[in-house]
Amino acid sequence: MTKSIADQNLPLIARRMDRVSSFLAMDVLSAAAAKERRGDSVIHMEVGQPSAAAPRAAREAAKAALDLGRIGYTEALGIASLRERIAKHYRETYGVSIAPERVVVTTGSSAGFVLAFLSLFDAGQRVAITAPGYPAYRNILEALGIEPVVIPLNKADGWIMTAKAIEKAHAAKPLHGILAMSPANPSGTMIGRKALAELGEICRRLGLWFVSDEIYHGLTYGDAASTALASDDDAVVINSFSKYYCMTGWRIGWIVVPERLVRPIERLAQNLYISPPYLSQVAALAAFDATEELEAVKAGYARNRAYLLEELPKIGIAEMHPVDGAFYIYADIARYTNDSIGFCKRMLEETGVAATPGLDFDPIEGAHYMRLSFAGSENDCRETVERLRGWLK
Ligand SMILES: Cc1ncc(COP(=O)(O)O)c(C=O)c1O
Repeated sequence: MTKSIADQNLPLIARRMDRVSSFLAMDVLSAAAAKERRGDSVIHMEVGQPSAAAPRAAREAAKAALDLGRIGYTEALGIASLRERIAKHYRETYGVSIAPERVVVTTGSSAGFVLAFLSLFDAGQRVAITAPGYPAYRNILEALGIEPVVIPLNKADGWIMTAKAIEKAHAAKPLHGILAMSPANPSGTMIGRKALAELGEICRRLGLWFVSDEIYHGLTYGDAASTALASDDDAVVINSFSKYYCMTGWRIGWIVVPERLVRPIERLAQNLYISPPYLSQVAALAAFDATEELEAVKAGYARNRAYLLEELPKIGIAEMHPVDGAFYIYADIARYTNDSIGFCKRMLEETGVAATPGLDFDPIEGAHYMRLSFAGSENDCRETVERLRGWLK
């Protein structure tokens, strides 16, 4: 019997998709949900999202738009009022002036990555990312046939991507771009103003695209985060309403791109997504006026962070990256395991505390790390410490 075209092509499709690994954090989420269905209590320290609702103003704006009835497509680049408001946000927050026309509203930053990568890189080109780092970078790049070049972070450099490391990687084999993140997931480390400017400088000198993921901006516990746009007008900046604005499920974010990329990105966006969701754009616009409510949520994270940084060392989790921002603690658990997946599974089963294995973020050193998210309640943090006390031996 002759094989169908689909069958003949299957090995090729399977090979390509084999390179896209599953997101272990989501697998932990499923295991935790299964445990809850069995009636067990689970403390969700694995989830990388705020437990707070979207700001009231955002929900009310969405309700009012819903009552008007028609939820239609918008322009592919987003509604003009939101693009203008985002440009104003750069003036107010960073003192950086960007034209609203350079703002592209996206279906979460996740869609922003696809648009940015497709418009900046050809298949086969090489983009530097970090380990540890956000796993989707590697997986999206691989899915698009772009080669992720992993730069291992180290303590001596303060666990951040440095210009020196980029120069070295480029000298070994030419890169086409870099993807930096500050504050970072999973480590919470921040790239200061000077180091960020140095990254921009090295990219200009070597002719590389500088992509800066700024999705955790607003969530810092010391100095405020700097935008790559402050020192490099050509940087491609990715941001989102998911984290500071507590709007993960609304799937709404933005990118700021150099003027010459706007039209190519618009064409891609029209074809890939048509437009970002209208209702979410209306809600996002209103979220800019919810500073008081959002700062109160952030104050809760700050309390959780202070509590965990004080208590975790007492129960045997003492080695962690500096938690400058975001809402994660990335802990070295080498004294307990070199199998973070097995460790997190056992911890979930035996204590009901769900955490994300470090292997999600770093295929090598991640074997002895785990990530705890403190975006939940104060009670979740206290309960975590209580349940792990005595279990960690
Ligand atoms: C560093 C980083 N970038 C991007 C994203 C994706 O966010 P979204 O698509 O919800 O904007 C996440 C989500 O956890 C993240 O941690």
